[in-house]
Amino acid sequence: MRKKIVAGNWKMHNDLNETISLINELKKNDIYSDVIVMISPAFPFLQMALELVKKSNIEVVSQNVHQKPKGAFTGEISVEMLKSIGINKTIIGHSERRKYFNENDTVLLEKVKLALSNDLDIIFCFGEELLDRKSNRHFEVVMNQLKKTVLNLDKDSWNKIVLAYEPVWAIGTGETASPDQAQEMHEFIRKCILESYDKTTSENVSILYGGSVKPSNANEIFSKKDVDGGLIGGASLNAKDFQLIIKANSSL
Ligand code: PGA
Repeated sequence: MRKKIVAGNWKMHNDLNETISLINELKKNDIYSDVIVMISPAFPFLQMALELVKKSNIEVVSQNVHQKPKGAFTGEISVEMLKSIGINKTIIGHSERRKYFNENDTVLLEKVKLALSNDLDIIFCFGEELLDRKSNRHFEVVMNQLKKTVLNLDKDSWNKIVLAYEPVWAIGTGETASPDQAQEMHEFIRKCILESYDKTTSENVSILYGGSVKPSNANEIFSKKDVDGGLIGGASLNAKDFQLIIKANSSL
């Protein structure tokens, strides 16, 4: 059975005090046992965040990781470094990494393989640009992103992967894919996985939707059968909003 997940991507927001107080706020929230809750603070605060979430249901994940195991790569963070402080999951391929840091499919596949071979699970992000959707190429673009990356992995890797479909035009713009657009794409993604592997693999992978999810639209998006949760940016910086989104994904 696939898992329901709500993950907060805090991006380059929150200094030390803000990170502490947001985590403490989140810890006061009710727990929905059928939803896995994740947060992704900035690198300097990961270790402290792991301490703060002890005895809570919150998991801490990294926003990124470098594609090489170690070496002269000033400013980068390795898989081994993350593992050594107790981080077991990382986001890879966020559209902001692709756009501002030129991470292409080749680099992303390198990252994915290195992470998985070191038992660092991944949330793999992908999604089309506005122009792709306007020209009705969104399915083709998404399929190519997957073919060049995660669909190259062996079947056993898939229990360490969560997918996050994030149409670029919906990230941080206030514009969300409609629930039907999200469902249609998630169903298509599951079909691509089915064709490359088998029914069990395609049915078991959690596919999150990301892009301007907020309390007012979360219920409808999460009610779709192939949407297993969300990767939340802006709304995850507010404890109350994040909690409402978690609640929206719970069947309890
Ligand atoms: P947003 O960001 O919720 O602010 O649109 C989503 C994301 O970038 O993962």
